[in-house]
Amino acid sequence: MDQAEQLRRLFMQRSGKAEQEEKSEEIVRTNENAIIAKTTEGRRLEEAIAANTLENANMAANNELLVEEETKHAVCSARVITVTSGKGGVGKSTTSVNLAIQFARMNKRVIILDADFGLANIEVMLGIRPKHNLADLIFHGKSLTDVITYGPENIGFISGGSGIQELTNLSKDQISLLTEGLAELDELADVIIVDTGAGISEAILEFVSASSEILLIATPEPTSITDAYALLKAINKKEDFSSIEHKIFLIANRVSSQKEGEDIFSKLNMVVERFLDIKLNYLGSVIQDPYVSRSIMRQTPISILYPDMKAAKGLKELAERLCKQEEEAPVKQSGVAGLFGKLIKSRLKQKKNN
Ligand SMILES: Nc1ncnc2c1ncn2[C@@H]1O[C@H](COP(=O)(O)OP(=O)(O)OP(=O)(O)O)[C@@H](O)[C@H]1O
Ligand SMILES: [Mg+2]
Repeated sequence: MDQAEQLRRLFMQRSGKAEQEEKSEEIVRTNENAIIAKTTEGRRLEEAIAANTLENANMAANNELLVEEETKHAVCSARVITVTSGKGGVGKSTTSVNLAIQFARMNKRVIILDADFGLANIEVMLGIRPKHNLADLIFHGKSLTDVITYGPENIGFISGGSGIQELTNLSKDQISLLTEGLAELDELADVIIVDTGAGISEAILEFVSASSEILLIATPEPTSITDAYALLKAINKKEDFSSIEHKIFLIANRVSSQKEGEDIFSKLNMVVERFLDIKLNYLGSVIQDPYVSRSIMRQTPISILYPDMKAAKGLKELAERLCKQEEEAPVKQSGVAGLFGKLIKSRLKQKKNN
């Protein structure tokens, strides 16, 4: 191979190398650009998320102000009594329905709000079938009168439906519809009894800690008493719960004697006084009575069907004590509009913090 040929080959090799180098440089450059593009995209995405969160937080804050504003304008406030328990099946719905009948007989306008999302207990007990529920008022343009169904002795009934669960995701218009409807309800009723579902779920705790008057039901079963304590303990931990603004009454249901009821209260109260910052009051007891289940079978409350039976008499006494208590030591009322206002605000606060 002559010198010229050697030089030519060397040149070819070099230019091949140069070409390769150029190619790999280009690859690096393309990759770099891709990385830069990806990072910018990522940054944009992050910014978008941040903006969205901010928007959500702002929306939550605006809605909070709206709730405050709307509930402030509620003129009348009904007395709202929330019925709850730790353990399920202890007599919440039976108590709610019969107290409602007893209040109606004292010339009070009563409405039961069923906040038990799962089962339609009250409807079955009263033998009524409502066409609409609270969700229809918020989402489907129904009026308050559309969602109230009147049952025996003119007791009003509203089924919560999915309306209560969806409080977090309401738009401004839906919040206005709900609070206007509830303010109207506060004017239509003297007493609103809220029947809650069983168990110590967050939804029930929120409801209970937003209520100013709470009826806690327990039976002599040890699990019912320990579950009642567990519920009180969970309420005690709630930030917005203060023993001064809330009044909790224990009802001992299905007892064999008044003495047994008093014993349940003193057992429970001993631990509550020792470990919790809660004042528990005793409202009284209802005797275990086979006429309760007979009246449920006939879909007519015991207070109507068998008013002279022991359980009906006990429930009447409880209603009278609640009335007396309102005269002697009234609890500050903010009505059902106030109760839902607190609920929505607490959910919006959680949303803002998430
Ligand atoms: N004083 C009583 N005497 C006899 N039986 C009773 C009494 N109170 C309630 N019961 C019975 O207990 C059962 C449960 O009552 P109820 O449905 O009122 O409980 P609840 O707490 O509302 O239940 P849930 O947690 O499922 O909503 C009923 O079938 C009823 O027959
Ligand atoms: Mg029930």
